[in-house]
Amino acid sequence: MAKVFYVEASPRKARSASIEVARVLLDALAAKGHEIDTLDLWAAPLPEFDGALLEAKYAVMSAQNPTPDQQAAWDGVAAMVERLKSAQLLVVATPMWNFSIPYKLKHWIDLVTQPGLSFGVDPAKGYYGLITGTRAVGIYARGGDYSGDAAAYDQQTRYLASVLAFMGITDHTAVTIDRGLSGPDVDRAARDAAKAQVLDFAAAL
Ligand SMILES: Cc1cc2nc3c(=O)[nH]c(=O)nc-3n(C[C@H](O)[C@H](O)[C@H](O)COP(=O)(O)O)c2cc1C
Repeated sequence: MAKVFYVEASPRKARSASIEVARVLLDALAAKGHEIDTLDLWAAPLPEFDGALLEAKYAVMSAQNPTPDQQAAWDGVAAMVERLKSAQLLVVATPMWNFSIPYKLKHWIDLVTQPGLSFGVDPAKGYYGLITGTRAVGIYARGGDYSGDAAAYDQQTRYLASVLAFMGITDHTAVTIDRGLSGPDVDRAARDAAKAQVLDFAAAL
């Protein structure tokens, strides 16, 4: 049995394409006995990345001892990273917003991308990821079509894939749901095609 960490980034809930497809995947995984841990980024309060937490990051990066306040703030993000690290599969369901991701998902990424927790730095080798036992599925909904020449505008799938790889999560499967704003029939067909893909993924897990 695998632990699955599901990060939900759409506030659209019942109308959301990314959530509708993610639910099919999660239900199939739960039916196979996998354990699902859910983080709804629009319901869970995330700490602001300022003050003691910001200073803690700089203290860690410059090999200084954090103050007790900074350590307490750092312990909070360490727990968030541990939640991610303890999963064998990360599922991120996200809309495209302005060619990229919603700010709530970026906020979470800023919190969990941390030196000594999710990535390391070696003077000789450079940066390396510390989350090596987790693979990822990204479920990416967008109003337009980002195949062909328009692929250059896609900073949604490429950004998430690269930041996850930076943390060590290099096994990333992208499931896209395109043209959600091209009318109900096109939207339905795109959702159904993505559901078939995630069911194949679940069957193989
Ligand atoms: C604030 C906002 C920005 C958006 N920006 C884009 C965009 O840049 N490109 C695009 O193709 N669709 C864009 N859309 C459309 C959504 O990506 C599309 O409706 C998608 O289905 C949303 O995912 P969801 O249904 O899971 O919430 C935007 C929607 C919103 C609300």
